[in-house]
Amino acid sequence: MKNFDIIVIGGGPGGYIAAIRAAQLGFNVACVDEWKNAKGGPAPGGTCTNVGCIPSKALLQSSEHFEQAGHHFAEHGIGLKDLSIDVPKMLARKDTVVKQNNDGILYLFKKNKVTFFHGRGSFAKAVEGGYEVQVSGSDQESLTAQQVIVATGSNARALPGVPFDEEQILSNDGALRIGGVPKKLGLIGSGVIGLEMGSVWRRLGAEVTILEGLPTFLGAVDEQIAREAHKAFTKQGLKIELGVKVGEVKTGKKSVSIAYTDAKGAEHKLDVDKLIISIGRVPNTIGLNAEAVGLKLDERGAIVVDDECRTNLPGVWAVGDVVRGPMLAHKAEEEGVAVAERIAGQHGHVNFNTVPWVIYTSPEIAWVGQTEQQLKAAGRAYKAGTFPFMANGRARALGDTTGMVKFLADAASDEILGVHIVGPYASELIAEAVVAMEFKASAEDIARICHAHPSLSEATKEAALAVDKRTLNF
Ligand code: FAD
Ligand code: NAI
Repeated sequence: MKNFDIIVIGGGPGGYIAAIRAAQLGFNVACVDEWKNAKGGPAPGGTCTNVGCIPSKALLQSSEHFEQAGHHFAEHGIGLKDLSIDVPKMLARKDTVVKQNNDGILYLFKKNKVTFFHGRGSFAKAVEGGYEVQVSGSDQESLTAQQVIVATGSNARALPGVPFDEEQILSNDGALRIGGVPKKLGLIGSGVIGLEMGSVWRRLGAEVTILEGLPTFLGAVDEQIAREAHKAFTKQGLKIELGVKVGEVKTGKKSVSIAYTDAKGAEHKLDVDKLIISIGRVPNTIGLNAEAVGLKLDERGAIVVDDECRTNLPGVWAVGDVVRGPMLAHKAEEEGVAVAERIAGQHGHVNFNTVPWVIYTSPEIAWVGQTEQQLKAAGRAYKAGTFPFMANGRARALGDTTGMVKFLADAASDEILGVHIVGPYASELIAEAVVAMEFKASAEDIARICHAHPSLSEATKEAALAVDKRTLNF
């Protein structure tokens, strides 16, 4: 039996960051994670590092290079003969990037004196002043601690009756390991994964069809921004069918056939080589043995927590995808830090109003705060200002002028209520908006700040000026 101050179950962004922050605060911390690499060794970092954020961005980068070389280098006077894509090499590079991140986390554990256990962590029982957690797998141990942080993440949701085989019916895991460019690729769900993975394989030459159940495209995104993005994706050749009802899915030896009804009620059949199911994720508490200690789950299987990530059990906390809120790595990290600080008696805090979202397609889509439709629904008086990248010098020089920056500010106080971007490097530009909103800045504050020229960030400044109808370059 080994005793710690804190046991963290799960080594994804929520868990490993919580463990590091807790160790920084002087606690004796154990982190238990069961993810295995191809050789069966430890691969901390969770979904994000192994089959999520990191590998998807590696493939998005490779495929974007291919797209640029094939379709845009010529505009710059760069000629290329015999352009080709070596998919196994691209996947090997992605795997190297993943391993660098796994190794980085193991290094950080050592540096911060977090004790890592490779295996599944399950609640054994409540003991005096804490809990016993059983580790099973490569490491076999019984651990005890006064405080336990659960960060066991999420798994891909399967379509009812259509289990993942990761050959033809793919979750995010299989979608990141397709060994060659499929001729025809189908996706169900045009959310974040559908658009990112659909973009990767379309850029590499697959004919991609996305079937989406809802009648609106990217319903959580500001409508104006979603419209602009839809236009761009359609122009690129991504076929997105909205308002469909998926029927029977039949898997053949090398193909999948999907019966569906379109928005007008007409019946269709889509035949593809592979089908990615990207219809959301479910919280993962498999193997946690929550019952042993009476840890409360909701009807979705998520661990029930309050605003501060406290569960129904004293000394047991839960963070990240396994609890309510957006399933984002940075949200999980912020919760992990806040919990470690609360255990230390500090005032950890996560501001859910300023959690940014990014979709890493081309154009990228990023936003923070409220959308125009949310403000309208709430009856809030607001002012809007937009600025197109078409009028931005840096975007023209980059050859990437799709999209815009949009500001929404309170009609009376001018406080920024939301910033929405579709366009180049939206993922980086959004950080300025997050900082501004955290500091309760007004649109005028951003409009009066000096931004480097020529830079994409000038579009942010100009959109802030547009709130007051005084853009300088449009
Ligand atoms: P996870 O990352 O899922 O980690 C949980 C860990 O706990 C895993 O290692 C799991 O093996 C381990 N575990 C589970 N149960 C046990 C147990 N009983 N014992 C021991 N270990 C256990 N988010 C972004 O912010 N940006 C992105 O660009 C992004 N891209 C994504 C792309 C894809 C394809 C996918 C699928 C997701 C993406 N996400 C992205 C979402 C992001 O991956 C998750 O929000 C994030 O990983 C959640 O972190 P977490 O720590 O809560 O859980
Ligand atoms: P999602 O929630 O983003 O999108 C799922 C889509 O599937 C929705 O549009 C939904 O209407 C549709 N859908 C659901 N059931 C359906 C059905 N039966 N038939 C047709 N359509 C259906 O979920 P996704 O894309 O699986 O991603 C899961 C989560 O992972 C995201 O919500 C996000 O939290 C995270 N993620 C984040 C990324 C990022 O930050 N860049 C990248 C990828 C994933």
